[in-house]
Amino acid sequence: MWEQLPERAVRYARAQLTYPLPLLREIEEQAKAQKVPIVPPEVAAFLCTLVRLVRPQQVLEIGCGAAFSTLWMAAALPPGARLYGLDRDYNRSLMSNANIRLAGRQDKITIEQKDATSEDGKAAIRARAPYDFIFIDCEKRVYPELWGLCSELTRPGGIIVADNVLFRGLVGEGAAAGRNSRGVAALQEFLDLARNDVRYTSQIIPLGDGLLVAIKEDTHG
Ligand SMILES: C[S@@+](CC[C@H](N)C(=O)[O-])C[C@H]1O[C@@H](n2cnc3c(N)ncnc32)[C@H](O)[C@@H]1O
Repeated sequence: MWEQLPERAVRYARAQLTYPLPLLREIEEQAKAQKVPIVPPEVAAFLCTLVRLVRPQQVLEIGCGAAFSTLWMAAALPPGARLYGLDRDYNRSLMSNANIRLAGRQDKITIEQKDATSEDGKAAIRARAPYDFIFIDCEKRVYPELWGLCSELTRPGGIIVADNVLFRGLVGEGAAAGRNSRGVAALQEFLDLARNDVRYTSQIIPLGDGLLVAIKEDTHG
């Protein structure tokens, strides 16, 4: 039978991570102090590894927060690649842009204050398509709508990664989700859309709060 790793093993693995920039440690502290949610470092490092493998030229991130995940991914971008990010929150878009300037990556990364589901946000996303790599990490209720948009805009051979798809273990628990039931239902619908989309091969990775990794087959345009 498969057993959950003990917490100390997760702490051990976390302690072995090599941060690509010292600034990322400061961003972790800043995010904690200002209560801005960020992915756990092992998820950020996994994103960085995926970017290193895929070697995307065009990356989209929906929900940048403090730009923690953004800068981890950017650390592995190949020459000439660009990352476009959106965050609907004014203060967070200021924070993420300030961190990108501190990292000296403003030539590669553009983050705009936009809601990804607004007409303006969708137009900005479409204007830069297609993408080789998309990371979705925003409000859960819009995940199904974002599957529709992002699955179209991913290049064949490209990859979509989405965070929080197991949502504290509540996805798949039905009524037990209580006050989170709308978000959990949306995540379930998102996972069903991904699994049933013949253009994609997808897998849920139980890392952090659950990651969906969906790869678009090369044969689908
Ligand atoms: C969990 S935080 C992102 C954390 C970031 N990916 C990291 O790990 O450093 C989620 C962000 O998504 C933004 N957000 C939520 N819904 C959004 C939407 N519909 N469009 C754009 N941004 C959204 C929020 O303002 C918030 O900053």
